[in-house]
Amino acid sequence: MPDNRRVSRRVMEIGKSAIHEMTRLSKEVEDVAFLSWAKPTSDTPDHIKEAAILAIKNGLVSGYSETSGLPVLREEIVRKLKRDNGIDANAAQVLVTVGAIEGLAAAIMALVDPGDEVILPTPTYSTHIRQVVIASGKPVMVPTIEEEGFVLDIAAIRKAITPRTKAIIYCSPSNPTGTVFSEGQLRELAEVALENDLTVITDEAYEYFTYDGHKHFSIASIPEMRKHAVSCYTFTKTYAMTGWRIGYLHADEELIPQITKVHIPFAICAPVVSQYAALAALRGAQDCVTGFREHYRAARDLMCERLDRLNSVFEYQRPRGSYLMFPRILLEEGKDSAGFCKTLLREAKVSTTPGVAFGPTGERHLRLSFCVPQEEIHKAFDRIEAFLG
Ligand SMILES: Cc1ncc(COP(=O)(O)O)c(C=O)c1O
Repeated sequence: MPDNRRVSRRVMEIGKSAIHEMTRLSKEVEDVAFLSWAKPTSDTPDHIKEAAILAIKNGLVSGYSETSGLPVLREEIVRKLKRDNGIDANAAQVLVTVGAIEGLAAAIMALVDPGDEVILPTPTYSTHIRQVVIASGKPVMVPTIEEEGFVLDIAAIRKAITPRTKAIIYCSPSNPTGTVFSEGQLRELAEVALENDLTVITDEAYEYFTYDGHKHFSIASIPEMRKHAVSCYTFTKTYAMTGWRIGYLHADEELIPQITKVHIPFAICAPVVSQYAALAALRGAQDCVTGFREHYRAARDLMCERLDRLNSVFEYQRPRGSYLMFPRILLEEGKDSAGFCKTLLREAKVSTTPGVAFGPTGERHLRLSFCVPQEEIHKAFDRIEAFLG
């Protein structure tokens, strides 16, 4: 246990990450079936790797770049934001970051004063909750409506607003539920933000992974939201570039210098070699993204089929996006999702993530990742069936 006189109170408030805890425990189990990580298992496409190698050979990566990112990359991002997100941006509104995570952290630090309240529709990505705590803000968790597919409860969000509310953070497509918030709901959320002068911080990491005709919508494409949104994006998921640590955010040009004041002492600039790789990713053919999407859709269908066979144990909402799902555990043991996950790991050799890691309304659920080869899904469910069936 750390000495709590030496460690800051805000850090002491942060508990162990359930995801990392499950990963640690899984390492002790031989031949585990692993459904715990929201991490692409595919390799980065070759043309992206080759661009990075060329940049290294040409001596382009040994110094810092501009703190906001290579101008040529920011221009390419501007084109992408217009084309795919409907955001009429310019380069002064773009900051290249160390993955979406650093963008989110910098935005939160730039906006939130100690004691400010930040609304998070839950279950949500646990990192967002921690980032608010690190900024000495107060996370205010507002449950989504599970029976309707974990959709936003706009009335409950309105009710949760107080004079201390500063921002709303959401992620869509969602980690952990696979929900894609509809354009209609996001327009309603925008109205709430505008009426109450709040900033909406978005995590759009899974923007390209939606299924069955469901469309990703960026709230910053609503012209009135330009001054009220900070939108965070990443190359991690789209191009299987987890380890490259490269992403970007869009905000209005008055806010960017303020967010940059946080970005510089935390990062100086995003890794330069990764910025060249990101440039190649945006400029190159996009069929790799289509391939990944098709792979995840097929994996989702398989996971749903396997869950259907266990319908006395799990009830689930079919994911419309991301590569994660969040079934409810119907068994009594599901009351303690962390205990249930540990039992599954020990007895069935299957690694999952306890729902409680994603906010209090996550209890009684498991997060399952389907960004794995289909054999891994079969292996995991064969074992779960043998153990529970
Ligand atoms: C919702 C969400 N946002 C962000 C990230 C991480 O993004 P990055 O690697 O760009 O920092 C993840 C990774 O799992 C995620 O699920």
